[in-house]
Amino acid sequence: MLQSTIFDVQNIRKEFPILERKVNGHPLIYLDNAATSQTPRVVIDAIVDYYSRYNANIHRGVHSLSQEATDAYEQARQKIQEHFNASKSYEIILTSGTTHAINLVANGFSDLLKKGDEIIVSALEHHSNIVPWQMLCERTGAELKVIPMSEEGELQMSKYRDLLSERTRLVFVNHVSNALGTINPVEEIIELAHEHDAAVLVDGAQATPHIRPDVQELDCDFYTCSAHKICGPTGVGMLYGKEEWLKKLPPYQGGGEMISEVTFERTTYADLPHKFEAGTPNVCGVIAFGVALDFMNGIGFDRIAAYEHELLEYATKRLLEIEDMRIYGPETNKASVISFNIEGIHPYDIGAIIDKLGIAVRTGHHCAQPIMDFYKIPGTVRASFAFYNTKEEIDIFVEAVKRAKLMLS
Ligand code: ALA
Repeated sequence: MLQSTIFDVQNIRKEFPILERKVNGHPLIYLDNAATSQTPRVVIDAIVDYYSRYNANIHRGVHSLSQEATDAYEQARQKIQEHFNASKSYEIILTSGTTHAINLVANGFSDLLKKGDEIIVSALEHHSNIVPWQMLCERTGAELKVIPMSEEGELQMSKYRDLLSERTRLVFVNHVSNALGTINPVEEIIELAHEHDAAVLVDGAQATPHIRPDVQELDCDFYTCSAHKICGPTGVGMLYGKEEWLKKLPPYQGGGEMISEVTFERTTYADLPHKFEAGTPNVCGVIAFGVALDFMNGIGFDRIAAYEHELLEYATKRLLEIEDMRIYGPETNKASVISFNIEGIHPYDIGAIIDKLGIAVRTGHHCAQPIMDFYKIPGTVRASFAFYNTKEEIDIFVEAVKRAKLMLS
């Protein structure tokens, strides 16, 4: 049965104007949601409303517009706090996205690490959760250790236990792999790291579109996400940090609004969260981020995850009808991401042909080259599904991949 009993997807689709457009003469079938999600009308309206009615700088003006913008910005911070269940609103630092959030933490540890310390990352990381730690190791003399992955695209937890020691200071892992969709056992990773007094940063960029994380329950030290993966705009995201850590870390950037007092002799810094929010922030983006969370919570993350799981199972079954199809990553315990290749065909060629049919997927290494090196492949075709996709779209996508295969074989 193509229709889902979880919710009426056709009603949900009406909220996304972009889904009405055609690409190369065909109705758009957007299956690149892991790269960025589409934007519902309420979020677009919030952006238009901000620039039409109360565009102003925040925390700076006594005038009404500035106060309205400041209130809306701080209310969005509170929504984000509630969504992630942080215990204090000042544990939410508003950033330009996950990459900014990770770099903020990596930079902050420059003076807290020394030669001989160790940092553990996982083999399933995006480049944004590898490169900042390599740079940190170069600055401090700390050493980077890697939790290896298995052929099934899962972390080898016994190897992780072996890597942990009294030298381990930090552990970095994504909640969900962007390239394979693997859901990592972050609860266990955090618990084991804490037994060794190591702090843990969880990159939630790919988990937050599917899961509502509870940072207190996870007991992570840092958690990051990007709004544009959760129906919000690009250029905005957040870093959750436990108060004790955020107090220990120095500011990332210097500038306006992050200070308490400035003289040429000495500057003192503002309290949290402003210490980490130098310069004029993406005011409109943050407000729209809050609206996007309201929108997704209105549908409900349990229902979103259940529906996306239906799509994942359906698409996996249909793709496996194709001869010489190889899907990478675990069979179960994964988010709605399918990374695949067809033997003898370059992933880019498949992506280019199906684009001509209006279908958007990502091809390449997905900013996760170590995973591609592990499988000894240049890249994959990645189809990633959101709650506004349908089984009918998956049927068209599978037929398009079959057609591409015929043309390229
Ligand atoms: N990190 C995004 C992706 O996986 C851009 O596609």
